[in-house]
Amino acid sequence: SKMDFAYMDAGRHITAEEYEQAYAENRKFLEEAYTDSERYKDSLGWLEPEEWVGEEALDRIVKKAEQVRRDADVFVLVGVGGSNQAARAVIKALQMEDGPEILYAGNNISAHYVNKMLSSLEGKSVYINVIAKNFETLEPGIGFRVLRSWQEGRYGKEANSRIAVTGTTGSRLHEIARENGYDFFVFPDNIGGRYSVLSDVGLYPMAVAGIDVRALVQGARDMKAELSDRESEDNIALKYATYRKLLLEKGYAIEMMAFFEPQLHYFSKWWIQLFAESEGKQGKGIYPVSVSYSEDLHSVGQYVQEGQPIIFETFLDVEKQNASIVLEADHVDDGFGYLDGKDFWEINRAAFEATIGAHSDSGIPCLKLTVPEISEYYFGQMFYMFEFACYLSGSILGINPFDQPGVENYKGYMFSRLGK
Ligand code: PA5
Repeated sequence: SKMDFAYMDAGRHITAEEYEQAYAENRKFLEEAYTDSERYKDSLGWLEPEEWVGEEALDRIVKKAEQVRRDADVFVLVGVGGSNQAARAVIKALQMEDGPEILYAGNNISAHYVNKMLSSLEGKSVYINVIAKNFETLEPGIGFRVLRSWQEGRYGKEANSRIAVTGTTGSRLHEIARENGYDFFVFPDNIGGRYSVLSDVGLYPMAVAGIDVRALVQGARDMKAELSDRESEDNIALKYATYRKLLLEKGYAIEMMAFFEPQLHYFSKWWIQLFAESEGKQGKGIYPVSVSYSEDLHSVGQYVQEGQPIIFETFLDVEKQNASIVLEADHVDDGFGYLDGKDFWEINRAAFEATIGAHSDSGIPCLKLTVPEISEYYFGQMFYMFEFACYLSGSILGINPFDQPGVENYKGYMFSRLGK
């Protein structure tokens, strides 16, 4: 089985002919994506995974990670936005049982949060990895300072061997690493934060958490090979980009990623960042949000069903069962006897089928992305596929999917308040 999108509203919003025509027209963007290497030449490093995660880079990542895993109780990942989201998405989803606990810092400016985190480090063996492309970003910058001085207070000189930094070659962060003898990992110059998963940025923290990063990279490589087939009538990224654009034209300006496994929450946050920061410019773009069903069926579900018709859903359909808990018959007559002997997995599956059926029957456009299983390999596939689809979507919308001028705006205000 393989990953694929299916469109579920029986031609009510998009007819087969309309889709085929749009797909055929959008083919030129696919062609362009592979041939026009000039246009975004400073941002396309992620297109070719081998450039940054060839065997040598993977060996170094895995070797260093193994060393840290042997000694660390806690590993603090310091970074924000594209610098921490992909690693967090996979680490939170796969929840490896052994190895260090992974904590996050440098992704907020909350005194309460930082205090709680620091006090949870007491008595533990602590390692940190700070990741920043532009080391002027305030959150990781001051998060790093606080953790650095905590490490120095705790370990003295030995602190240096417990700190790894990931920055661009020649950056201030690189110098800091050199001056202090920290381990240095490379943030590729030609990859922006939200596209950086297949590099030291995403893979080193994952490897420390015990994630099989080779399998993840293999998934991305295989997806790349699949998407490179420009003749295909069924290019999964182009298919997705085409449906999204058609739905946007029909007034569906909000895309809601819906999943039934709470472990996918942080993956949906990665996806939200990728699309919102890439597409939301020049008054254009689809606003991405996510819901964790079945919980959110009891809240947002009402709006989805009967609110303004501006939302379409992209369901993540995980095929392979990854856990089991059978509801045993009980001596208390609680009214749930009809579920005796059923597996939670099966019940959740029924909720999934029912929701997608109810929503598409009532006219909500629904896309379904089938994912064979929640694993490193398929995360690699999803990362590459969504990044590529986002690149195509940018071209289809006529915006640059690699910059983020709007993010800079608030920074000017903040810096002037803070006297920078
Ligand atoms: O995708 C992006 O470019 C951003 O979200 C950045 O990753 C984020 O702002 C963090 O930037 P930096 O790594 O420079 O601290």
